[in-house]
Amino acid sequence: MNDTSVVDEVELRGLLDGLLRGPLRQMTPLEQAIFRIRFELYVPDVLRPLVKLYGERPDFAAHLENLLGIVARAYASRPEELRLLDLRRVSEPDWFQQPNMVGYVCYVDRFAGDLAGVKDKIPYLKELGVTYLHLMPLLEPRPGPNDGGYAVMDYREVNPAYGTMNDLRELATALRREGISLCVDLVCNHTAKEHEWACKAVAGDPVYQDYYYFFPDRTLPDQYELTLPEVFPDFAPGNFTYYDTCQRWVWTTFNEYQWDLNYTNPAVLAEMLDIMLFLAHQGVEILRLDAVAFMWKRLKTDCQNQPEAHAILQAFRALTRIAAPGLLFKAEAIVSPDRLLPYLGLGAATNKECEIAYHNSFMVLLWSSLAERRVVLMTHALQNMPDTPVGCAWLTYIRCHDDIGWAVRDEDAAAIGLSGFLHRAFLSDFYSGRFAGTFARGVTFQHNPKTGDRRISGTLASLAGLEAAAEKQDWRETDLAVRRILLLHAMILAFNGIPMIYMGDELGLLNDKRYLDDPNLAEDNRWIHRPRMDWHQAEQRHDWQTLTARIFHATRDMIQASKRTLSLHAEARCYAVWTHNEQVFGLIRDSARGRLLALANFTERDQKVPRHRLHDMGFDGELVDRLEGQTLDSWSDLQLEPYQALWLEKVLEA
Ligand code: GLC
Repeated sequence: MNDTSVVDEVELRGLLDGLLRGPLRQMTPLEQAIFRIRFELYVPDVLRPLVKLYGERPDFAAHLENLLGIVARAYASRPEELRLLDLRRVSEPDWFQQPNMVGYVCYVDRFAGDLAGVKDKIPYLKELGVTYLHLMPLLEPRPGPNDGGYAVMDYREVNPAYGTMNDLRELATALRREGISLCVDLVCNHTAKEHEWACKAVAGDPVYQDYYYFFPDRTLPDQYELTLPEVFPDFAPGNFTYYDTCQRWVWTTFNEYQWDLNYTNPAVLAEMLDIMLFLAHQGVEILRLDAVAFMWKRLKTDCQNQPEAHAILQAFRALTRIAAPGLLFKAEAIVSPDRLLPYLGLGAATNKECEIAYHNSFMVLLWSSLAERRVVLMTHALQNMPDTPVGCAWLTYIRCHDDIGWAVRDEDAAAIGLSGFLHRAFLSDFYSGRFAGTFARGVTFQHNPKTGDRRISGTLASLAGLEAAAEKQDWRETDLAVRRILLLHAMILAFNGIPMIYMGDELGLLNDKRYLDDPNLAEDNRWIHRPRMDWHQAEQRHDWQTLTARIFHATRDMIQASKRTLSLHAEARCYAVWTHNEQVFGLIRDSARGRLLALANFTERDQKVPRHRLHDMGFDGELVDRLEGQTLDSWSDLQLEPYQALWLEKVLEA
């Protein structure tokens, strides 16, 4: 056992003995021995970040004991089926990196009414090939506006409109038995202002006031504001809110009703740890950790991606591994690539932070290439991204419940002769439907006049042209829109990681303006791309005459193809290549499992890739397209139809 200056080995032995005599005393000798092994393995990983965060505190040892007590109690109460799941996961650590993994994300109510309804829809998910289901925030939110459930009032209750904790457990069990892992949101950066902790803080309880950032006046908030960006400049400007009831300013990064938690207080970390393990015990296999970049504040910075935010995640990681080693973390950090990589664990933290993170840049670059009909920026930017750490997977996606912010770096744009500012403005114009001749029908979200940023809301189908084509009743436009939808799906399936299908995209659901009728939703136009599942339209997938059937089956076929393609394992290197055609994107996946070249034509015209270029990259001789299963020779130039994707592998001689 490694020691540190703060806690020595003797003390750790004493701690372990105390746990074995206390919360673990009822366990069998074998179970106790397993705990001991995990304790010895992971305690150094617990100590490293905790010392960084709280090592200076005189009460450090007491907090450490409290955290390990939480872990030991959770270990003792872990349900048997989940203990077996832990064993399975630890025995197959790359389970989430395998090409078999395909995600689907939806709102419980919008997809199926309630949790019991979701259970009834398992056959639909299986038909599509889903093995990972992310249910959008489902814990009890505050009443009224709640940011789509991201303002949680009670982390131990399910939103009553969706069912009960018992229903969640049943659903998780049913999914697991069908080979689908459940992912839920854990909003760990903030709570609703109606959360019990916040209420006690408002009532003047100093213990709970220390759970949040309370300020008596504007002195500190003003200093912080000098370098803080605004997340919702339209409907929630500024980062602090004044409350008359307690005569204090409170840190509210997001909406006024979402209060940032104060992780300088170790009691907050302990509370959240307990909640994580509670959720893991319900059968949740992946926690989507919301807004993790914001978890630590520091004057004169943008208060994002601070080293301590990483230390918090690493502490959560190591502590939960002792009690529930099967649990995975997915980081939601919508930040630039260099800031993003550390969430997957780098250097000493390799494999010790989060296993999964959203690949926001790839998503943005896909949309950028589609608007521009050129892949130069995407190729350059991806080539300049650091390699993905081992033991992790990106979450690759085209759309999610949030808006698209044009995270195109000025350096990347400049390197290929574009102005970053003007390119971002072009993308906003293009996708909000202002650009002449655009196929997209999106809307502007959060125009920030100070920075010029205009983010975009809209469903995949509407942004890819299906809505405009339907308005015009133009069959060629319709065909192109469908091809764009499929091209983007082929891209997220080919890239390194877990592809995530956003509910309704497999059917081509269009923007849904009905949110405007609900006063709790009307001012947030992200609801335009959070439609209700149209089960009537879904039924049309059986009718080959319909567009729905075309999109659904083509998506499903690509999913099946990806599952069969071993070279798509997340451990395979993934790098963008120049194809000698600025309209055709190239991506290589490379590992001992195989070598695959994904090509994608981002235009509505036929394109060619010269054969010598394929040969340069080692793709000579007979090639097979894993998407269609067809073989093609590489002696003539390769032809791609409008928006066609190919996944090429060399046919190996027997
Ligand atoms: C995340 C969510 C977003 C939410 C915010 C605050 O970014 O994806 O929908 O508004 O966190 O919780």
